[in-house]
Amino acid sequence: MRTSRLFIPAALLAFAAACATAPKAPEGVTARATLEPRSGSSVTGWATFTDRSTGGVRVEVHVENAPPGTHGLHVHERGDCSAPDASSAGAHFNPGGMPHAGPAELKRHAGDLGNIEIAANGKGDLELVTDLLTVKPGPNSVVGKALIFHEKRDDMTTQPTGDAGGRTACGVVR
Ligand code: CU
Ligand code: ZN
Repeated sequence: MRTSRLFIPAALLAFAAACATAPKAPEGVTARATLEPRSGSSVTGWATFTDRSTGGVRVEVHVENAPPGTHGLHVHERGDCSAPDASSAGAHFNPGGMPHAGPAELKRHAGDLGNIEIAANGKGDLELVTDLLTVKPGPNSVVGKALIFHEKRDDMTTQPTGDAGGRTACGVVR
C-alpha cells in the first residue's frame, strides 16, 4: 500500500522534470500597434506582429470605423505618428532598397502589406505572413516603425507610395 502510494508522486515528479527540460514550445516574439485616427478620420484598430518558428512574421490587423472599401496598409520607416496627417512616419519601410509593390511580389518594400478590405460596418481584418519583416532585432525589425492605414487603395504599382492617398490611421509598433 505504502509503496504504491509513493510510486504515483514519483512518476509525477519524473514527468514534471521531463517537461522542465524539454525544449520550449515555439512561441513567437510579438509586437503590437494601436491604430489611432489621423487626417481628420475616425479610424481605429490594432495590429500584432509575431515571429514564426518557421521564419517570417505573421501580421494580424483589425480596423474599425473606416470607410467601406479597399485601403492600403503599410509599415512606414519611422515610429512617429505625431503629425496630424501622420507624415512624421516617413516613407514606406524599405531596408532592402526595393521598389514599391504588392505583398506577393519578390521585389517590394518590406513594409508593403497590400490592401485591407473594409466591410459595410466599417470593420476589416487582414492576416498575412511576410518574410521581409522580423519582430526580433535586426535590419528588418518592425519594432519602432509605424503601421499606416490609408485613405485609398494601394495600386501596388505607383512609385513609391502605391497612390494610396492620405494617412487616415497610424500606430507605432512596440
Ligand atoms: Cu503607407
Ligand atoms: Zn511600398
